[in-house]
Amino acid sequence: MVRTGYVGAVLTAVSLVTFIDAQTIDDVSQLHKTVMSGYNKDIRPAIDQSQPVFVNVSFELISIRELDEIMEKISIVGILWMFWEDPRISWNPLAYNNTFTTRISNQNVWKPDLILAHPIDMTKAIGFDHSWYPVRYKYNGMALWAPGDVMTTTCNIDITFYPFDKQSCEVTFIPWGSRISEMFIHVAEKEVSRKLFSENGVWELKKATTVTGLIDNMYPTYSVVIELQRRPTYIIVNAVLPVLFMGLLNVLVFYLPAKSGERVSLAITVLLAIAVFLTLVGDNMPKTSQPMSILCYFLLTNLVLSSLIMVVTVVNLRIYYKETEVPRWLRSCVLIFKCKRKFRHKNDTKVDALTESKDADVKKSPEVVVKDNWVNESDDTESITWRDVSETVDLVFGISAIVWLCLTALVFFSMVSTQRLPEN
Ligand SMILES: *[C@@H]1O[C@H](CO)[C@@H](O)[C@H](O)[C@H]1NC(C)=O
Repeated sequence: MVRTGYVGAVLTAVSLVTFIDAQTIDDVSQLHKTVMSGYNKDIRPAIDQSQPVFVNVSFELISIRELDEIMEKISIVGILWMFWEDPRISWNPLAYNNTFTTRISNQNVWKPDLILAHPIDMTKAIGFDHSWYPVRYKYNGMALWAPGDVMTTTCNIDITFYPFDKQSCEVTFIPWGSRISEMFIHVAEKEVSRKLFSENGVWELKKATTVTGLIDNMYPTYSVVIELQRRPTYIIVNAVLPVLFMGLLNVLVFYLPAKSGERVSLAITVLLAIAVFLTLVGDNMPKTSQPMSILCYFLLTNLVLSSLIMVVTVVNLRIYYKETEVPRWLRSCVLIFKCKRKFRHKNDTKVDALTESKDADVKKSPEVVVKDNWVNESDDTESITWRDVSETVDLVFGISAIVWLCLTALVFFSMVSTQRLPEN
């Protein structure tokens, strides 16, 4: 069959190639002996030592380990891919039984020593600890070295818009002590490669790019810029919404009849619940004061509201059980709030009266009816008691508390949600 014939041909070709390519241990050890004899790893691999070594660098991001808001540090796991040319380690592949590439321990050869520019712990070149990261050489002297590690570096963190905040961190590498005239870093790929990337539960990776720079016009730098966006659902569900609902519970105090004697206990229970809850929430919040997050202020307004409700409740209970005469100005104030309700009530009775005395009252103009009502209202001022005053206070503060809650929630969400808008 044609198919079998084709496969057979391919297999023969492959076995032929592997047969020809079969270098022995002797070949490779002879090769290593030859290229390493007289090799000085302190000397840069540039034939013209006045020229820099060109190193092509790219970055592979594996994961975001953590971002610590208090210590202001970021930990990432990544691999630095570095390509350069070392003309000293080049050979004729035919002389070594077609050995086209080989690997040499990184401790024995020159390599670009990149260190973190803003380290948290000890300063060490990337891959320094690991002699088992070998350098791969091609017969024409092209070298590839790809050390991977956990890289922890400082990062300025701004939690103003927590939990909708975006952070941008720069992981910067510098070739220790090498000047731009000695080593030139060339960005092979501007985008950070994410072939091996695994997502982080707290942070969403928005963008990862690399840039090169110069310090003092002399020392080259290579930076990986990582843009992260926090996933806010956890905080919204576990902190913001519960506090809002507790605030609504708090408003119920004004609806509870004063006679029940349970008002103060309800108010104090909700106040305590909010206070306890805030300490729990505080544990999940970044503990920095510069800058403070808007969420902290939002939670605080809720606590303040709860305390105010407590004060109003106590004062209002005192008003409720007062025995003395209500001052005239207070009576008219209360009347303004009760006016509408009373007026409607009076109007209904008036209509009933009208239907009863058909002929005579039908001719009365509406103005007269209204005037009659007002006369009745002013009579009512006499009957206003402290109970009515207390009910009015309940009404006013209940509505204001709800408005306060809605307003603060609205202001908070509109302030932080500006961060969520797409940039482009
Ligand atoms: C570095 O990249 C440039 C441009 O992509 C390329 O011409 C050069 O050969 C590369 N050098 C090495 C050592 O890989």
